[in-house]
Amino acid sequence: VTDVTAQTSDYTSNLLARRAGGAPAAWNNMGAKPRKMISFTYGLPDEPSFPSKELAEITNQVMSEQAAPILQYGYPRPLAEYLAGFIKKDQGLDITADNILITAGSGQAISLFCRLTLEPGDYVVVEAPTFLGAVKTFQNQDAQIAEAPMDDEGLIIEELDALLTQLKAEGKRVKFIYTIPTFQNPTGRTLGLERRKALIELAHRHEVFILEDDAYHGLLYQGEVPSWLWTLDPYGIVFHCGTLSKTLAPGMRLGWIGCARPELLVVINSLNDGGPTSSYSGYVAAKFAEQGLLAKHTRQLIDIYRRKRDRMLAGLERYMPDGSKWTEPQGGFFIWLELPEQVDTVKILGKAQEAGVNYLPGSACYASGKGRNCIRLAFSLVKLEEIEPGLRTLGEVISQALEG
Ligand SMILES: Cc1ncc(COP(=O)(O)O)c(C=O)c1O
Repeated sequence: VTDVTAQTSDYTSNLLARRAGGAPAAWNNMGAKPRKMISFTYGLPDEPSFPSKELAEITNQVMSEQAAPILQYGYPRPLAEYLAGFIKKDQGLDITADNILITAGSGQAISLFCRLTLEPGDYVVVEAPTFLGAVKTFQNQDAQIAEAPMDDEGLIIEELDALLTQLKAEGKRVKFIYTIPTFQNPTGRTLGLERRKALIELAHRHEVFILEDDAYHGLLYQGEVPSWLWTLDPYGIVFHCGTLSKTLAPGMRLGWIGCARPELLVVINSLNDGGPTSSYSGYVAAKFAEQGLLAKHTRQLIDIYRRKRDRMLAGLERYMPDGSKWTEPQGGFFIWLELPEQVDTVKILGKAQEAGVNYLPGSACYASGKGRNCIRLAFSLVKLEEIEPGLRTLGEVISQALEG
């Protein structure tokens, strides 16, 4: 037996030193004691509701009908066709399967879009706060990040205009704006129609692309949401990415990117040298969706998540100290909690974990590390009945911090 722990060299140590910037371990909980904790940390889907039985049946069905294309190297074209039809109905966008490229999750779609657009030193403008998974992808491509401020209604267009003007004056090249306009991660905010239109005009005027990430599409619990930026775009500057991770299962690794010009998707696809997504997953998901099961499952998820969201809003009302405020998302997985300035949510995380509750400090959602008085609360994975006790504990930890 070879002892792998002896297999270390300067080469590997250097590689580790260069590449292991990564996220601090404090909130990824890997080093934490194996104790029962109520966790609001991760934006993962509700586990008991995974449609495992239906997926097993569909898998049997597609295997008996057409095993070869599923198990062969290939591309799950039926899924692209389903999505194109869905988008046509949902958004009134006149597209075909050629306007969509299926990827291994939307994470890969974001990464491939970067490969299409970015050169070292280019700037990407992101919302502040935003989904740091995407920021990490931008930084992996040697991009610089500029943060555009938001208010309760999302991106502030005038501030974004000023930022783009300033970056240009400084000789910095902005390639695209990355936005999550609907049920934003981490704030849950949704950008209104007028701002959406203004954002497209602004981007066009500054000659930058928009990467629209709609990871939580369909998970609407209240009211209506405006059309996609892609739908509203008369210029062909919006690239839109979506995923089945939230409405079906992230383990299937199915996402997509869409845009007006299919030729660009051919180029994006040619940049994918890490291998395509799983045709196996893609064919199964396509059949699942074609049989109406995705729509049915999404309706069930809406009920589950709406109840969790409402439970969380009620708990926040009850347990958060004066001077706190939080968002009331129409959909998605997250609520953004802003505490009085003097509360440092990074500092008190250890205390919260000891008391049995875990969360994501707001600073993990800013490229600049701001937001230390904020918390992202995910209500998606936590059990319904754990939300109230979890928030009670969190409220106690925060109150102690305010007293001390
Ligand atoms: C806003 C946003 N975009 C993209 C992703 C990536 O999802 P996936 O790669 O599973 O499609 C996530 C996952 O949390 C997300 O929150």
